[in-house]
Amino acid sequence: MSHFPMAYLGNKRLDIKYFAKYFPDPETYSKILEPFAGSGAVSFYLSDKVDEIILNDRNDILIELYNKWVNGFDQLKEWSTIPEIEKLLHKMSGAGSFKRAYGIISKNTKKKEKFREALISKGTIMQGDWIDAINEHCDENTFVYLDPPYFDSNNKTYITSKTKINDNPIVDIEDGTKIFIDILNLLKESDCKIMLVINKNAITEFIYSDYIVGEYEKIYGMTIIVKGEKYKKRTKHIIITNY
Ligand SMILES: C[S@@+](CC[C@H](N)C(=O)[O-])C[C@H]1O[C@@H](n2cnc3c(N)ncnc32)[C@H](O)[C@@H]1O
Repeated sequence: MSHFPMAYLGNKRLDIKYFAKYFPDPETYSKILEPFAGSGAVSFYLSDKVDEIILNDRNDILIELYNKWVNGFDQLKEWSTIPEIEKLLHKMSGAGSFKRAYGIISKNTKKKEKFREALISKGTIMQGDWIDAINEHCDENTFVYLDPPYFDSNNKTYITSKTKINDNPIVDIEDGTKIFIDILNLLKESDCKIMLVINKNAITEFIYSDYIVGEYEKIYGMTIIVKGEKYKKRTKHIIITNY
């Protein structure tokens, strides 16, 4: 059962077993910062071991969800049934059906309550770009877990501008590659303890070659159909640290 009120696309809850052994020595940090927070799986995992939890994400609906949730599960439930919000939450959840996305949100559990209490007592929830969260909160007592969108994804959700050409609606898709260069520079220069987990491909392996400490393979639960045949998708992730 998840620690978060609903399913979240990219949730790393089930991956932590592969990379927890590479976390920094718990004696060396007191703060966890997740600039690409999503459902905050790593913060939940470390919630008993740290004095401060800082979650940042660019997704404003996700941050609104956190804020409603902190104010109480009933408030979250009520908000999540507003048809417009329900649609957005469903999209964020990555769940196949509307019913499943809502089914998860409507149920409280001990784990969810434990995370909510940790966020109330020692959490800061921020909406914005990842680099601003780093600039504001990073110091030598901070463990930063970076879980950006996949390197090869063209992230259709992250539309940067909308316009019309000859009455045709046009959208620009953001170039998501700059994040990966900024992260490389951060690994080289930063005082904070940084871990990045990202999909393995020729480019990610090349640019982070000096910092890779491990890798793991993941087979997704979801079935995809290719030419009428059912498959499960398999990817490799690399684990990168600067400490
Ligand atoms: C792979 S998900 C993180 C999943 C998370 N580790 C979990 O366990 O649920 C990536 C997150 O990064 C956020 N994001 C994408 N670009 C961002 C940016 N430039 N600044 C901050 N957050 C960003 C997305 O909204 C998404 O929630």
